[in-house]
Amino acid sequence: MNMTFAPDPPLPTRAWRAVRERGPRYAWHKAMRRALGRWPSWKRRVVYADPRQYWTLRGGRDYFREQEGQVARTLRAEWIAGRLAGYRPTSILEVGCGYGKLLLALRERLDVPLTGLDFSPSQLAVGREFLTSRGVEGVSLFLGRGDRLPFADGSFDMVVTSAVILHNPPEVAERIRREVVRVARRFAAHNEETNLSYNRYGYDTAEWYRDEGIRIAESGPIPMDSDAATSQFCVARLDG
Ligand SMILES: C[S@@+](CC[C@H](N)C(=O)[O-])C[C@H]1O[C@@H](n2cnc3c(N)ncnc32)[C@H](O)[C@@H]1O
Repeated sequence: MNMTFAPDPPLPTRAWRAVRERGPRYAWHKAMRRALGRWPSWKRRVVYADPRQYWTLRGGRDYFREQEGQVARTLRAEWIAGRLAGYRPTSILEVGCGYGKLLLALRERLDVPLTGLDFSPSQLAVGREFLTSRGVEGVSLFLGRGDRLPFADGSFDMVVTSAVILHNPPEVAERIRREVVRVARRFAAHNEETNLSYNRYGYDTAEWYRDEGIRIAESGPIPMDSDAATSQFCVARLDG
């Protein structure tokens, strides 16, 4: 797979390529995502009924190209990685790591064990190629669910989520937060926006920690996010 960013070919070429390379289900899903743009509640029902399936069909090369084509996304990942590195964690797990954009930014700043987990095989497949193509070493990638992490209590010094909990319905989001706190030793860090859309549920994660009686080391918007009112980056201290 070509890991460089090139301009999109015309729509008919992309549509034909989509059917040929990833099958009619993928092409149908992509068409529905576009067609239902103005009907978010229908869009949630039709294309987001199963978040794992959504991220398997939506994830992969298209998603990679879309994200890498936006400078703001790279600046955001670098900003988050810079904040996280400031806490000097000795190991990090990223839950919902996607294709590894944040893991790459973390590796550029920290020489500690990094682990990524995602429930989308297509995201992880691109992630493996992406990180290898950038010469990144010492990152372990796992296929798994954020609400059932396959790790023992306190396995990682820091656990991070970036735009992950917000994509899950309330009962799953609650289980993910509890799993994060279970497998983290000192820090739980989150970039989770609070706005709603067809695939976003919008949670105030910092408030959740406060309600749990867990101290927040920092909380506030990410400078490069377009809407400061709905942007939220927070770091919770789990060691008192
Ligand atoms: C918007 S992408 C963000 C990817 C990455 N964190 C980043 O910042 O570039 C959301 C990712 O979270 C993953 N994800 C969402 N819910 C998940 C869950 N319950 N368990 C595991 N992965 C999940 C999706 O598969 C997708 O790769």
